Amino acid sequence: MDTPPRSSRILAVVARLLQAFLRRYARGEAGAAAPFLVGARLLDLGAGEGYVAVALRDQAGLWVCSVDVGPFRKADGPYVVYDGARLPFCAGPFDTTLILLTLHHCARPEAVLDEALRVTRRRLIVMESVYRTGLERFWLELLDGRLNRYRHDGRMDAPLAFRRPEEWGRMFESRGLRVVETRWLGSWWERLVHHPLLFVLDKEWTSDFLGERHGSRRHLGTTGWRVKPQCAR
Ligand SMILES: C[S@@+](CC[C@H](N)C(=O)[O-])C[C@H]1O[C@@H](n2cnc3c(N)ncnc32)[C@H](O)[C@@H]1O
Repeated sequence: MDTPPRSSRILAVVARLLQAFLRRYARGEAGAAAPFLVGARLLDLGAGEGYVAVALRDQAGLWVCSVDVGPFRKADGPYVVYDGARLPFCAGPFDTTLILLTLHHCARPEAVLDEALRVTRRRLIVMESVYRTGLERFWLELLDGRLNRYRHDGRMDAPLAFRRPEEWGRMFESRGLRVVETRWLGSWWERLVHHPLLFVLDKEWTSDFLGERHGSRRHLGTTGWRVKPQCAR
């Protein structure tokens, strides 16, 4: 049997290490998002390999439908591929939609956000790699491009739209979203070069529905519904 060339063996090792890193990172993302999830019907938009859904299932017994623009799944669970423009769901089947490290990879992030809003009843949880200085932007462009080019068998879209925290904030506010919480994530060593920021966003009517404006906020929990949504129609 022929031995594969050395360069292929090195690439295979890099790919395995990257997948181990991504699984571990996804567990951190799931842990950061978990306290803010509402409802039992969850969507992970721009799910990549689908590791966040697995982490949420293992950590909290949650059911998550993953969606991405290609068949990039490396974990089990429901996974839907769409065209990047129109999600194959009716309006509002999901209680919470996660959009983690994804908007800056989208050709039209505003349109992706609008689709997320259409299919979500209550809450969006967005995590974005942001920059505040030229140096932070330099590291983002260098590392995001380098790391992600090994994902999806080399088919991962290049990062397109890094923004400052306030630029994302304006985009969310222009859609009538209410920022419930923002939180810096990442260990101290990650924060040397990468600055992930978590936005917890409610559709305005949701806050009224939850009674927040009247000082009696109810967290509806994560196990209120037993019925799983239809993942794709
Ligand atoms: C950096 S990865 C993030 C993957 C995963 N959310 C995570 O946190 O590990 C960005 C993902 O966005 C996806 N993406 C690019 N354009 C998209 C679009 N229009 N709609 C949804 N996902 C998109 C890419 O295919 C990729 O899987």
